[in-house]
Amino acid sequence: MRPVHTFLALLSVALSCTITPIWSLVAIGKVHEVGGHEHWAPNVDYTVWSTHERFYRGDWLVFRFRKGMYDVVQVNETDYDRCSADHPILVWNGGNSYATQLNETGRYYYICSRGYCWEGMKVALVVENRPTPAPVPSPSSPASAPLRGTSAIVAPILAVACALTNAGFALA
Ligand SMILES: *[C@@H]1O[C@H](CO)[C@@H](O)[C@H](O)[C@H]1NC(C)=O
Ligand SMILES: *[C@@H]1O[C@H](CO)[C@@H](O)[C@H](O)[C@H]1NC(C)=O
Repeated sequence: MRPVHTFLALLSVALSCTITPIWSLVAIGKVHEVGGHEHWAPNVDYTVWSTHERFYRGDWLVFRFRKGMYDVVQVNETDYDRCSADHPILVWNGGNSYATQLNETGRYYYICSRGYCWEGMKVALVVENRPTPAPVPSPSSPASAPLRGTSAIVAPILAVACALTNAGFALA
């Protein structure tokens, strides 16, 4: 009786504790530091910076800047081209950093509204859907949609099973 129980517990731990972290990692987006080590400041070529990055839905964008000196204003394409903050989508002017999650695919435009946009403080980027991480047996994409839905349900169950089995071992 007992060896079977132990075997099942081991199997459960092996499955849940090795598989779950892979799914968890997929959900965590990458953090993009705008401008790299040059941060958010005048006279930085943000076009060069953004073309060297790949932005995926769920990634994070972090602006670091000199407190009180600069701000971050999300605008649309027209206002980005004109360096105009007349119709802001979002304004951030507190502290020395601003972090936002790129929740939607599409184009994002940010400028500094304090005159420095004309000195290059403007960045445009395109957010894409993250490519499917694990190869799916069928090459056609429709098969991957229900699979992702299933993993979303199974992952938490496995995580709980993993925790419970570990607790069971601790008690034994
Ligand atoms: C940006 O917003 C302004 C003001 O609402 C509007 O006139 C303009 O057409 C918009 N541009 C784009 C590309 O949506
Ligand atoms: C992005 O999505 C997360 C999770 O749903 C939410 O908490 C967050 O407020 C969203 N951020 C933006 C900038 O929309």
